[in-house]
Amino acid sequence: VRFELLGRDGGARLGKWVTPHGEVRTPALLPVIHPGQQVIPAREMHDKFGVQMVITNSYITWRNPALRERALKQTIRGLIDFPGPVMTDSSTFQMYFYGKELEVDNATIVSFQRDIGSTVGTILDIFATPDMTESEVGQAVDTTLHRAREAQPHKGEMGLALPVQGGTFPALRERCARAMAGMDAAMHPIGGVVPLMEQQRYADLVHVIAASQRGLPAGRPVHLFGAGHPLVFPIAALLGCDLFDSASYSKFAQDGRMILPDGTAILDELEELPCACPVCSATTARELRALPTSEREAQLARHNLHVSVAELRRVREAIRAGRLWELVEQRCRAHPALLDALRSLDAHAGWLERREPLSKPSALFYTGSETLARPDVQRLRARLLERYRSPCEAAMVVEHAPRPFGRTLGGKWAHARAHGVQLLVKTPFAAIPVELDEVYPVAQSHEPRLWDRDAGKGFTRFLDAMLAAHGWKLVTEEEVAALPAKEGPRLDDARVRATLDVQFGRGAAEALLRAPVRFRKSATTGRVRNVFSEGEHILSLRASDGYASLKLAGARRLHAELPPPRLRVVVDADSAPFQREGRNAFAKFVRAVDDELRPGDECLLVDDADRILACGRLALNGDEAASFRHGVAVDVREGVVSRGSADEDGEGLQPV
Ligand code: GUN
Ligand code: ZN
Repeated sequence: VRFELLGRDGGARLGKWVTPHGEVRTPALLPVIHPGQQVIPAREMHDKFGVQMVITNSYITWRNPALRERALKQTIRGLIDFPGPVMTDSSTFQMYFYGKELEVDNATIVSFQRDIGSTVGTILDIFATPDMTESEVGQAVDTTLHRAREAQPHKGEMGLALPVQGGTFPALRERCARAMAGMDAAMHPIGGVVPLMEQQRYADLVHVIAASQRGLPAGRPVHLFGAGHPLVFPIAALLGCDLFDSASYSKFAQDGRMILPDGTAILDELEELPCACPVCSATTARELRALPTSEREAQLARHNLHVSVAELRRVREAIRAGRLWELVEQRCRAHPALLDALRSLDAHAGWLERREPLSKPSALFYTGSETLARPDVQRLRARLLERYRSPCEAAMVVEHAPRPFGRTLGGKWAHARAHGVQLLVKTPFAAIPVELDEVYPVAQSHEPRLWDRDAGKGFTRFLDAMLAAHGWKLVTEEEVAALPAKEGPRLDDARVRATLDVQFGRGAAEALLRAPVRFRKSATTGRVRNVFSEGEHILSLRASDGYASLKLAGARRLHAELPPPRLRVVVDADSAPFQREGRNAFAKFVRAVDDELRPGDECLLVDDADRILACGRLALNGDEAASFRHGVAVDVREGVVSRGSADEDGEGLQPV
């Protein structure tokens, strides 16, 4: 079993999970199949719904002599007739549901799952409920950990699912996760959350997932056990859940309920079907109601499964487009308890920010004051306070301007700067220096014209922090004109310098741009594309997100001026010769990553003696690089023995 990252957004991953029985693209839904009676045949799920993996119950199979016999003979995949990978669960949930000990023990049920050819089998974990005391949950965690160790010699070739328990106690969740992470496992389900979802305690669900994630290894798939309604898929995926299993499609159908992307409807109360799935497109509410019970149930189950798998397609597509936060913000407005979940993300901003890429393919939308807690926004604010540097002694605020700010405010900015005043644009995200107009998310964001109170208050507070951090006095337009004037900088020059400091940290612009500095600009947009210093091509500015891509000459300057571990990715001696030649660095060869680096950041590849090997773009953060066994950690752009590119002649350059 191997897990590889193909894309990401927020804390979510687009993954490729390769099992001996087939490949699964994550985040994925594993519908629950009853081994004896299938409301929707597993084969149909595979062929018609695009389901890549299912989960079924090994205890029910073991308990029933006929099913047991057939599973042992034809494997579990043969028994349920599913051509892809099949996960099996133990009897943990039945024990919780019926509240009693069952006749099967851990070693027996793990061995049975191995013998029926499960792709991934689950240990007999202890389902800790939200009403248990801390010491009861602690004992449940200890027993679960003991069983995880006990299961190892019985697993054979089968992948093991080692669940994280710990009730609603974050420290127990984290302890359990950390201990499970140290064992051999194919994946980690987060267990014991069904009662939280049934009681719509979504904020608690967020805290439970986040606490578990703090202890789990980034390189293994994380499964949310028993989720459930598609409303939780986006926010759980945002928190790094890769796999979901759900019996809701059939349970809801039994009760005559229709799952919808933003809620649930009762068939008996509907005059029209608010859905475009194949079932609903071919019938009416009245016709559905008129069907015989079992047929109606099967059709409702199909509808429910269509809606559920479509929501996961939407989640995966949102990750590809860099729009998962917007999807989460939309979905969490479907119910006040989900709004609590959205607001609870703030408590896990640190974990989320470490996973959040530097920039995204789509613009950031302000959808409400919760947007201000997004890592993108908080990171922008922190970098404006800590990394941005201004030679000015005063600042002036402009009330909204069309983007890009440099184009609409260039004249005003030059006038202010000539008088020693920094021009800031008022947005709900931050008070933004005009020269940072092209970097993500400044250029790539949209806010409403009419602000809510939180946005206004947040802006005032942030502006005060900016004034204090930079020692600026706030001035009006009239006061600017009264100040003495001298020749100010050019906007292009200020933009490049501000961008480099914000991207790499203070001192980076100075290290990179030794005079004479020249730019090559795009003939179509007039924007700076390539930056040369002392005749060397140092970096290029990306059109997509406004940030710099380093050339080796630039990387050498940062390496010389910024002490380790800044911007460093240390690779193994075995791998170093490949990076020197400009080849990508694989995760399994990465020794250490600067803790300040984020996915999408530029980095310096070095050996363990801090000799520079190459420069490139990081795909993983440090936790991930340490944990993933497969896939690329750094897309290398140029190695020290790569052949130089042909564009370094400096022809057609504009002096600054
Ligand atoms: N199904 C739903 N929740 C759980 C859980 O906590 N453990 C196991 N093994 N299965 C589950
Ligand atoms: Zn439908």
